[in-house]
Amino acid sequence: MADATGMPPPGNGGHTNGQGTDNPGTNGAGNAGRPAASPILTITGLRTQFGTSVIHDNLDFSVQPGEVMGVVGGSGTGKSVLIRTIIGLNKPAAGRIAVFGRDLASLSAAETTAMQSRWGVLFQDGALFSSLTVAQNIEVPMKEHSDLPPELRQELIDVKISMVGLPPDAAHKYPAELSGGMRKRAGLARALALDADILFLDEPTAGLDPIGAANFDILIGDLQRALGLTVVMVTHDLDSLYAICDRVSVLVNKRVKVGTIEELMHEPDPWIQEYFGGPRGRAAAGSAERSGTAPQSAG
Ligand SMILES: Nc1ncnc2c1ncn2[C@@H]1O[C@H](COP(=O)(O)OP(=O)(O)OP(=O)(O)O)[C@@H](O)[C@H]1O
Ligand SMILES: [Mg+2]
Repeated sequence: MADATGMPPPGNGGHTNGQGTDNPGTNGAGNAGRPAASPILTITGLRTQFGTSVIHDNLDFSVQPGEVMGVVGGSGTGKSVLIRTIIGLNKPAAGRIAVFGRDLASLSAAETTAMQSRWGVLFQDGALFSSLTVAQNIEVPMKEHSDLPPELRQELIDVKISMVGLPPDAAHKYPAELSGGMRKRAGLARALALDADILFLDEPTAGLDPIGAANFDILIGDLQRALGLTVVMVTHDLDSLYAICDRVSVLVNKRVKVGTIEELMHEPDPWIQEYFGGPRGRAAAGSAERSGTAPQSAG
């Protein structure tokens, strides 16, 4: 199940997707290795807290169109909260979050609903509705955000199921009847239900065996290129970072440090040093080098 059934072959990994940016931006179109268009997502001065517990403080973060941004950090540093805050499930105590140049706090209810249809989310626990079949799960956002007639929804559901490499008969199965890897694929199909521009993935490969995880990385990479997606992916999986991420954000001290893996390796922060330079980091770097997915030196 290594392939994304029905998908075109992987492209050249170029970042060509500038669609949907509402502000024209001032950057050139150069995309040699590092994207340079206006950010598709910009966070400035974000503060999130629960009671007196501050999770993010004055955090700045931006993601370019077509970029695959990894998000790492120790357990409890606020990776999932960051995603939940971006998509509006958690209200920031301060700061601004803009998507496609629009400040999310300034949107009307109708605009917010429209904005929600432009991103897809795969939550950390998969979060499929256990009482619904895979097809019905994928249909939920379609019903919520589109006026598509049932026949067309059905056709689209079949397309999404095939896109994520699930067999057609998975459509009528309940989550409990699927393997962990299949559930992840089903969750991904639901995240893709609305042809989103941005995909938020929270630990998509957690709990999969190494081969299943590698196949899922390949799937995400293939889909990203074929659909021109921007991907923000929380992961603990160093192999995933090497395989598909253009840049990585590390949550440390309530903020993020952003860079290529190469750049982050020069960060003095002890957690970052240990993470990328420790035994697991070195092993992942070695296997990435052997498979040709190691980061290119800047230049
Ligand atoms: N709804 C909530 N109410 C109160 N505290 C919360 C809430 N959601 C998250 N937190 C706290 O915020 C902190 C960050 O949680 P988060 O789930 O973002 O961590 P994480 O970086 O995703 O960790 P992990 O790698 O274990 O998934 C934790 O201390 C958590 O207990
Ligand atoms: Mg989490």
